[in-house]
Amino acid sequence: EKGGFEHFMLKEIYEQPRAILDTYRGRLLAKEGIIKMAGIDENLEKFLNANRIIIVACGTSWHAGLVAEYIFEDLARIPVEVEYASEFRYRNPVVTENDVLIAISQSGETADTLAAIKLAKEKGAFVFGVCNVVGSSIARETDAGAYTHAGPEIGVASTKAFTTQITVLTLLALKLAKAKGVFNSTRFHEYLTELEQIPAKVEEALLTNPLVEIIANVYKDSPNCLYLGRGYNFPVALEGALKLKEISYIHAEGYPAAEMKHGPIALIDEHMPVVIIATSKGHYEKIVSNIQEIKSRKGKIIAVVTQGDVQVRELADHVIEVPETLENLTPLLTTIPLQLLSYHIAVMRGCNVDQPRNLAKSVTVE
Ligand code: M6R
Repeated sequence: EKGGFEHFMLKEIYEQPRAILDTYRGRLLAKEGIIKMAGIDENLEKFLNANRIIIVACGTSWHAGLVAEYIFEDLARIPVEVEYASEFRYRNPVVTENDVLIAISQSGETADTLAAIKLAKEKGAFVFGVCNVVGSSIARETDAGAYTHAGPEIGVASTKAFTTQITVLTLLALKLAKAKGVFNSTRFHEYLTELEQIPAKVEEALLTNPLVEIIANVYKDSPNCLYLGRGYNFPVALEGALKLKEISYIHAEGYPAAEMKHGPIALIDEHMPVVIIATSKGHYEKIVSNIQEIKSRKGKIIAVVTQGDVQVRELADHVIEVPETLENLTPLLTTIPLQLLSYHIAVMRGCNVDQPRNLAKSVTVE
């Protein structure tokens, strides 16, 4: 059942090219230049007339929500707020009939997310679900939705759910950008054809596995680890840190790289590994200077870069290359080596990768 892999998590990491393909198959019609998604087509006006989109989720799904915030605002020019479902539901939020709420949940059973949906519905908002489990409570409770077609995710650490959630949300953002007329057909087409390349590029990113395993061996005994990124790679940094925490029990924190100066830089010394996502598009020069700041304080730098990178390679202790893509789509690639890094470290530390202590696959109680 693990398909020859030692753990479900590794199997699911490797399933990502297919899972992403299955998620856009039949929806993304690049030749025709259209994206077909029934749940959106039938409710297009709701999205187009929305004052704003509120995204609620927990854990990894919340990180996918953060990526979606950047994509929606950048491509479709719709204001977005992303909230932890547990905070949203208890803070007396301002929600009106003109808001659209998107709930993201792999399991479709997360108690706080479900409660947030009920609250938004009571206040008259239109509620859209992005779930993986067909027929789950959240899938049933929402007004409309789009499934991720990741297939069953067994490992407690979410992997393919994350990349397929980003895929669905990207399709949604593109559809809205097109419908709003923010995007001309050339730009739209550029995105569709690039999305079609993503499974092959994820496949390439998976080829970093042997190198990532070597790096894992160097840092497996470290008690701490920092993850930094900017822009689209900031949520990836958070996700990388969460993966490491939950399966290897190493204390890890994700930060926007520029926030270093506001506190965390005090932690840097020769014992602190810092994973930095420094892809070529989006704030490259800025992140290079963040890397220099860490290096001058003797931090150990593990950098995820775009293939062919020269500048970061000169500074970093380890460099992991992923293929080039459009800036908005980088999380789909940069997250791959971070999943592998946490996996290998957890295995080397003898942890129960698929069922980490104290955790459940779906959190059905608050
Ligand atoms: O099923 P959901 O997507 O609603 O679950 C949300 C979180 O519980 C989940 O992503 C959790 O953080 C994972 N263990 C992360 O790997």
